[in-house]
Amino acid sequence: MIVPHATDTPVPARTVRKAVVPAAGLGTRFLPATKATPKEMLPVVDKPAIQYVVEEAAAAGLDDVLMVTGRHKRAIEDHFDNAFELEQVLAAKGDAVRLDAVRDPARLADIHHIRQGEPLGLGHAVLCARRHVGDQPFAVLLGDDLIDPRETLLSTMLDVRERHGGNVIALMEVAREQIHRYGCAAVEATEEDGVVRVTGLVEKPSPEDAPSAYAVIGRYVLDPAVFDVLERTPPGRGGEIQLTDALQTLTVDGTVHGVVFDGLRYDTGDKADYLRTVVRLACARPDLGPEFTDWLKGFVAELESGEGVVRRRPAA
Ligand code: G1P
Repeated sequence: MIVPHATDTPVPARTVRKAVVPAAGLGTRFLPATKATPKEMLPVVDKPAIQYVVEEAAAAGLDDVLMVTGRHKRAIEDHFDNAFELEQVLAAKGDAVRLDAVRDPARLADIHHIRQGEPLGLGHAVLCARRHVGDQPFAVLLGDDLIDPRETLLSTMLDVRERHGGNVIALMEVAREQIHRYGCAAVEATEEDGVVRVTGLVEKPSPEDAPSAYAVIGRYVLDPAVFDVLERTPPGRGGEIQLTDALQTLTVDGTVHGVVFDGLRYDTGDKADYLRTVVRLACARPDLGPEFTDWLKGFVAELESGEGVVRRRPAA
């Protein structure tokens, strides 16, 4: 299922053009790093996490991205803007590689920002995008889930939306004891391999109450009909307006499909998962991977011998 998708690869014309990226969370799990820096700006190797998400949207042909932010998120706006002085300095030095790296984020898509104002939940963040999105289907990408750049999940979801209409969510099978961290879907098979009909959804159920082991991962292609439903959706789990609850309402009409994903997904939502993500993506990088992987093997060997934990001087 892994197909490299360079950004210059032609993408089919589709009706969905807009992506919404909720980015208003406080990032309390990463304090103190996130005291003055948005969690979306934490680096994954040498790019902020949110850049991977915008690159994924752009690679799937979405050329309009709306960030739903909050207070203290100025750094996100700056990152996706031109940096005139920095660009001048790099241009004067003839440093084309870094100049491209600085310019790339602003070139990925037409990027817009709106503020959520009140932290009323993911469903509310999506509702804030209503005016910008208008009466067109749109994608939602959550920043805590990174999908490996070699995967084509979002494109597959957009194709499913073209064929079936309605709403399309991404699902991944997880261990039962993990399901309480996710929205969970009850599903029925369809005639298409890897595509299911979603018959029910519940936000973060306990393992005993979970209708399946299918977790909702943070990619959605939504019909604008979801906005009216969100307007009527009362606060749910955690006192927040949950996107999962609005989609549960839509399952009744049979308008929710799921794409079952079994590819490479990285979770940057908590510290241990974030560290795994950085290590995995560093190992996969052609420029850093070989050297870093060699070091990592040596480090693991040290840990296994018990040496790594007690050594004073770290391996170079
Ligand atoms: C959100 C959604 C949840 C989904 C998850 C995926 O939860 O509410 O349904 O499974 O993202 O990452 P959050 O992790 O923001 O609490």
